[in-house]
Amino acid sequence: MWEILLVNGPNLNLLGTREPNVYGTTSLADIEEMVVRAGEKQGIKVHAFQSNSEGTIIDFLQEHRSANGIIINPGAFTHYSYAIRDCLAALSLPVVEVHISQVYQREEFRHSSVIAPVCIGQISGFGDFGYLLGLQGLLDYLTKQRGA
Ligand code: DQA
Repeated sequence: MWEILLVNGPNLNLLGTREPNVYGTTSLADIEEMVVRAGEKQGIKVHAFQSNSEGTIIDFLQEHRSANGIIINPGAFTHYSYAIRDCLAALSLPVVEVHISQVYQREEFRHSSVIAPVCIGQISGFGDFGYLLGLQGLLDYLTKQRGA
């Protein structure tokens, strides 16, 4: 059974109440449940994790390096965490970067991602639905990789 890591970074634990005009009103628990259920329906185990700390995210990723793929919303770490990028590069698993908001319509500092170059793709602007898009993109990639 494929195991997918669903990782959310800083301040995403506040989803539901955090700037709802930007991030919507769905809680992180609800998003995690939605992705876990979508995975179950396709015979995939989704392991959800959130932390506000860079090192804790890296420890989690390293400890779960036997997974098949990663969906990650690194939050603000997207824009400057070379440490998370290096970790993802070291694991050499397929990674999908997800953003709830459309980062390219927002402040300039959000327009660049140091994580995207080590990802198979990036999803931005579809709200919490972006996590399901990320899951589908990753499963399609893994299925094609298996058949290759
Ligand atoms: C975010 C966008 C980031 O710029 C921001 O720092 C976040 C959330 C998003 O999901 O839209 O924390 O990753």
